[in-house]
Amino acid sequence: MYLTGTMKVNKDGHLEIGGKDCVDLVKEFGTPLWVIDEEGFRQNCRGLKEAFAARGDSRVLYASKTLLNPAIIKIVEAEGLGLDVVSGGELYTARHYGFPMERVFFHGNNKSRQELEMALEFATGNIVVDNFFELSLLEEICANGDIKRKPGIFLRITPGVEAHTHEFMMTGQIDSKFGFTLPDGQAMEGVKAALQCSHLQLAGLHCHIGSQIFSLDSFEHTSRLLMDFIAAIKKETGYEIKELDMGGGWGIFYYEGDKPASYENWADSIWTAVHEKARALNLNTPRVTVEPGRAIAGPAGITLYTVGSRKEVKGIRKYIAVDGGMTDNPRPALYGSKYTALLANKADRPGTEKVSVAGKCCESGDMLIWDAELPAPEAGDILAVFATGAYNYTMSSNYNRLLKPAMVLVKDGIGDLILRRETFQDLLRNELLPDRLK
Ligand code: LLP
Repeated sequence: MYLTGTMKVNKDGHLEIGGKDCVDLVKEFGTPLWVIDEEGFRQNCRGLKEAFAARGDSRVLYASKTLLNPAIIKIVEAEGLGLDVVSGGELYTARHYGFPMERVFFHGNNKSRQELEMALEFATGNIVVDNFFELSLLEEICANGDIKRKPGIFLRITPGVEAHTHEFMMTGQIDSKFGFTLPDGQAMEGVKAALQCSHLQLAGLHCHIGSQIFSLDSFEHTSRLLMDFIAAIKKETGYEIKELDMGGGWGIFYYEGDKPASYENWADSIWTAVHEKARALNLNTPRVTVEPGRAIAGPAGITLYTVGSRKEVKGIRKYIAVDGGMTDNPRPALYGSKYTALLANKADRPGTEKVSVAGKCCESGDMLIWDAELPAPEAGDILAVFATGAYNYTMSSNYNRLLKPAMVLVKDGIGDLILRRETFQDLLRNELLPDRLK
């Protein structure tokens, strides 16, 4: 299950990805190393796009918070997906590398005036308005600025749905910092306020119930709620919403027990509900947009580490330590996330020893994997951790002044460096020493 895309164990018993032997990748680029399987990433883009397009007028956006860099931007563009950005930084990066701005959706619960102005200047496709403050701010900027066309806005609706996932990744529940709450009438007020804005064009509704979700019922239920809301809006205001953005959140395989549904099942859970409700409520079928991130980037990435020190606490636990940790993958420390790993240079050998994999940060919580079964790992072995393509690089840090790893994009036996390994000089780049301290 964890060998996805082009990953396989080759004739030398080594892990191979994108036609590159991981042992060779490490010789060439060192560790820790993020490796992205271009073909795997593209397959995920295509699979999702096709599954949704087969069921109705759909758009798939890639959520750039999962993994963003110039190579990914070019691949997403070529695969015909749109882009979900959530900050001035992501927006700027997308535009800098020439991503078509009409395919960009700009999210965020506290966009600044400067960020909104930038979005307008770039003619960003749609702005997903999160709250009343932002609605008035955007209307005011458009009223006072030299804006050629009315920007299309989506309103982020918080449906009051508790999707089963980690508390920090739930976003659809009533008590959430995001969006206009549906059950208490705030969402309807938001829609009416948006319709009053003479400089904005209400294009659609958006919602995102959370991340790493396996229950398709949650998506189906939310789609029904949103369709009911579209009907209620039509009844109260006469205005019919024609676009529905159902967010992302589709869960992937990290560890035994994780059972992701197929692209088709995921698309069905949303589209069946939308079609049925459109018929029952006598509505036009809206165009459906989804914005997965993890499902595209997650399985396509692995991290390679070199095994170093070892410690045994007699009768309790064996630890091995690697040359990275919570700085390149904060997810185990932050969410208790579990990962699957193997030794890339002994990938054909069965796991014979139970060891726990520690990172190198000065913090006991810096554990990457508890109780992994590995073939007697020794110093110098290469540990490959799977499904690290999403939310690893983008959430990485320089804690303990560790250097961020390099990233390589592999395809057809070629490995291209797409992110340089940080240097000690990089750590000093933005630092200033006042004269009086010299
Ligand atoms: N759309 C919106 C509005 C979102 O907030 C997110 C993720 C997505 C789409 C993409 O969700 P995905 O398909 O990747 O689940 N740092 C956490 C995940 C936080 C997700 C934030 N929003 C993690 O490492 O698991």
